Amino acid sequence: MSKSDGLLLSRSVVLQVKLFAPYASEFEAFVDASLGYDDAPENASGHFDGPAPYEALRALIPVKDLRAAGVFFTGPELAERLWSPTLSSLTETSIVVDPACGAGDLLFLPAAHLSRMHPRASITNQIRGADLEDSFLRTARARLRSVHRNEDFSHFILRDFLHSPDVVRDASHVVMNPPFFATTAPDTCDWAAGKVNSAALFAMQAAESMAPGSRLLAILPDVLRSGARYAKWRSRLSGLGQLIRVQALGQFDQQTDVHVFVLEMIIGAPNFDGVTAAKWMASASSPVKVSDLFEVRVGPVVPHRDPESGPSSLYLTTKNLASRSHPHQRRQYNGKLYNGPMVLVSRTSRPGQLPRARATLWLDAAPVAVENHLILLMPLDQEVATCLRLRDVLSDQRTSDYLDERIRCRHLTVGSVREIPWLEAAA
Ligand SMILES: C[S@@+](CC[C@H](N)C(=O)[O-])C[C@H]1O[C@@H](n2cnc3c(N)ncnc32)[C@H](O)[C@@H]1O
Repeated sequence: MSKSDGLLLSRSVVLQVKLFAPYASEFEAFVDASLGYDDAPENASGHFDGPAPYEALRALIPVKDLRAAGVFFTGPELAERLWSPTLSSLTETSIVVDPACGAGDLLFLPAAHLSRMHPRASITNQIRGADLEDSFLRTARARLRSVHRNEDFSHFILRDFLHSPDVVRDASHVVMNPPFFATTAPDTCDWAAGKVNSAALFAMQAAESMAPGSRLLAILPDVLRSGARYAKWRSRLSGLGQLIRVQALGQFDQQTDVHVFVLEMIIGAPNFDGVTAAKWMASASSPVKVSDLFEVRVGPVVPHRDPESGPSSLYLTTKNLASRSHPHQRRQYNGKLYNGPMVLVSRTSRPGQLPRARATLWLDAAPVAVENHLILLMPLDQEVATCLRLRDVLSDQRTSDYLDERIRCRHLTVGSVREIPWLEAAA
C-alpha cells in the first residue's frame, strides 16, 4: 500500500484524539485498584465508575474530528447483532482479532463466550487487537482485564493495519468496524481509483491477508453493499470466499447518521450458488421483490400469428414505444387487453446494456393490446406512485448488475424480472 492511502490524518485530528489519553489512564487506575478486592463484575464489557468509552469519546472530542478520524466505537446492541449468529462458530482454539479495535467493543462477546463455553481456551492468546491509537489500546486492555482478571492481553498492539496486515494471518475470526472516512485509493488498487471509503480498503486488506477457512465479520458502510461505485469491490471480495451474511442494519446509532451492514464471509471457500449480486442486494431490510408489488407477464399479441380480427384498440410494441411520440398504431385483437397504470419493459436486452431493463411508464386507462416482445408489470395497488418507483428501481445500476449476473442471454425472462430486489428509495 502506498503513502497515498491518505490515512495520515491531519495533525489537528491526531491531537484531538489524544484528548482521550487521560480517560484511558483513569480507566487503567480504576481497574488496577479494583482487581485486589472486587469480585469480577457482572458487566461483560468492563467495569468502570465513569462514562463508557464511546460516551467519553463523544464528550471529549468534537464530532467533526471523530468523523475525520473515523473513530466511532460500537455500542453493545450493535455488537450483539453482529456476533449473536456467529458466536457458536468459536471453538476452543479460535483466535479472534480486531485489527482496528478501538476500545475493544467488538471483542467482549467472543471473550465471554470462549471463557464460558471453552474454559481451556487462553483468552490472552486468543483475543487480540490492534489500533493506531495507544490510549484506545490501553482502554481495551483495562476493560478486558476488569472482566478476565487473570489475563494480561499482551496481544493488543500498536499497528497500522493497512501497512501491516500480519495481525490477521493466524486468526480464525477477524472482526472489524473500520474507519469510514474518504481517502485516496492507492496506485496498486485495481478495483477503484481516486476517492474511496477507507472501510473498503480495510475489508479488502483483511480478506486478502486471512487464512483459508477463516471468517471475516465486519460492520461496513452501506454504500459498499449497494453503491454502483463499489461493484468491482464487491465482485473482487466475492471471489475471495463465500458470503455467509450480507445484512443491512440501518443507521449505525442514534448520533451517527451512517447506514451500515454486516458482512460475514468464509475466506477461500468458493461461492456455490453463483448469484453473488443478488446476495449483496438482498438484505434484512429489503427482502421485497418486484413480484411482491406487481403482476408480471408477457404481452399476449404474437404479431404475425394472431389474426387481425375483433375490436380495434391502441397497439403497443417495443418499436412504437421507443419512438419519442405517443404511439398511435392500432390493431384488431380478440384476446386480453390491458390498461394503465403499468410499466412496460422490452424483453430484448443484452448484458452490459444500461439500463438492462428499458422501461416505459403507461398511465392511460383505456384498454390496449400489447405485443409479446414486451413484459408488462401491473401494480397490485394500482397506484401510479408504485409504477414511478419501479421505474427508478429498474434504472438503478444495481438492478442492471443483478440482471447481468442473473441472465446472460440477450432477452429478459418473466422469472428474472419478478425476482428483481425492490430497492429502498434513497432517503
Ligand atoms: C470506527 S472505530 C471502531 C473501533 C472498534 N473496532 C469498535 O468497533 O468499537 C475505528 C478504529 O480504527 C482505528 N484505526 C484507524 N486507522 C487505522 C489503521 N490504519 N490501522 C489500525 N487501526 C486504525 C481508529 O483509531 C479507531 O479506533
